[in-house]
Amino acid sequence: MRRERSTFSGSLGFVLAAAGSAIGLGNIWRFPYLAARDGGGVFLLLYILLAFTFGFTLLITEVAIGRRSQQGPLTAYRFFNRKWGFIGLFSFIVPSVIYPYYCVIGGWVLKYFVQYLTLEGEAAVDDGFFGGFISQMWSPIVYMAVFAGICFYIVYRGVQKGIERFSKIVMPMLLLLVVFISVYSLFIEHTDPETGIRRTGLQGAAIYFIPNFEGITLAKFLKIMMDASSQLFFSLSIAMGIMVTYGSYMKRSVNLGKAVDRIELFDTLIALLAGLMIIPAVYVFMGTEGMGAGPGLIFVALPKIFHSLGAVGSVIGIGFFLLVLFAATTSAVSIMEACVASVMDAFHWTRTKSVVLIQSGAMLSAVLVCLGYNVLYFEWELPNGASAQILDIFDFVSNNLLMPFISICTCLLFGWIVRPRLLVGEMRLNGYSFFRKRLYIILLRYIVPIILGVLLLGSFGLY
Ligand code: ALA
Repeated sequence: MRRERSTFSGSLGFVLAAAGSAIGLGNIWRFPYLAARDGGGVFLLLYILLAFTFGFTLLITEVAIGRRSQQGPLTAYRFFNRKWGFIGLFSFIVPSVIYPYYCVIGGWVLKYFVQYLTLEGEAAVDDGFFGGFISQMWSPIVYMAVFAGICFYIVYRGVQKGIERFSKIVMPMLLLLVVFISVYSLFIEHTDPETGIRRTGLQGAAIYFIPNFEGITLAKFLKIMMDASSQLFFSLSIAMGIMVTYGSYMKRSVNLGKAVDRIELFDTLIALLAGLMIIPAVYVFMGTEGMGAGPGLIFVALPKIFHSLGAVGSVIGIGFFLLVLFAATTSAVSIMEACVASVMDAFHWTRTKSVVLIQSGAMLSAVLVCLGYNVLYFEWELPNGASAQILDIFDFVSNNLLMPFISICTCLLFGWIVRPRLLVGEMRLNGYSFFRKRLYIILLRYIVPIILGVLLLGSFGLY
């Protein structure tokens, strides 16, 4: 017997759930550290350009694929063309790789939340606190397991009662707090006790906003572009099977194009604000040298801002980490849902069976990721020159290799084989005017696959 497919209640439910998926650690944790590492302005400029061209093209395509096929990612591509069904397999592998390490970082956020809640936030100001925590044996595993347990419960509850209800409550709160902290970050200042140099939040904001092309070679430019595009995939939940899954839960009465426009705007806005919240603070307290700190950046920089606020800072610390926790949860849930929907549709398993099996497999990988900072510690140089532990390798393989590959194949399939007309029809179902249609088709057929192809070669270390 065919099970009736779950749906979001309507347009708002879809937009908030999809924005909840898009806005997450990608915006608050990943975007600022990449922007800081790549020097600020140039990264930001490329990111915005890519978001409104590549990001839009791929996002709307994936949501339309989901709604048209009414399938999870594993089987959705096969619905359009059997030979290209392999894209579905990769779209299932990507969230399966990301979900475990996402839970590990979710666990770090939970640890910081508990630290502030128990009025121990001061300890986190110390530069060695973060490294000391992640290199412990058990504590990161326990926090990861609690975070993953929450996600498990929400996905188990299903689409409307779990995912949609949760997103509707937390997303507006997150926006308010991010706006508040980013404005505050502009006004902080600090004098380095050793050098006597005084740095201000506004100077940091200038580094963030104003592109500085000095010393940028072609290779470096392409590297920044690769970082910006991998970030875009991650942040908009593209090429992770998520938007195909959420599209498949979208009612046919919803104006798909309009909903996608909103998600794109909302996600980009939060990423920009997250950068504004963090980069000036890093610059103020740690100088330009501190900006290359990598994945630990928000955990090292934000406690310093909260500390500078005095007693109020401890309360904001609690609120902030709670909301990051919510943002991370709505995203982790969507990553897990992409895996769950895939196996439910492909093998006709029940939700309970699918959730239990996916979660069990993910927990094994997540433990490996945690151990990557102690007993399994090593330093491996990635083709982009960054030094990597297990988490970074998972991140690199999914974001820099598999996601561009999936997107290139998606463009080829819908640009040349199935033809864009089919999806454009889906996008226009409820009167969406689609003023970027011509641009969309040109991007889908030519520009996106060619540029992603060039960037993919770079990810393999070919230049
Ligand atoms: N799009 C999600 C994020 O940004 C995965 O965290």
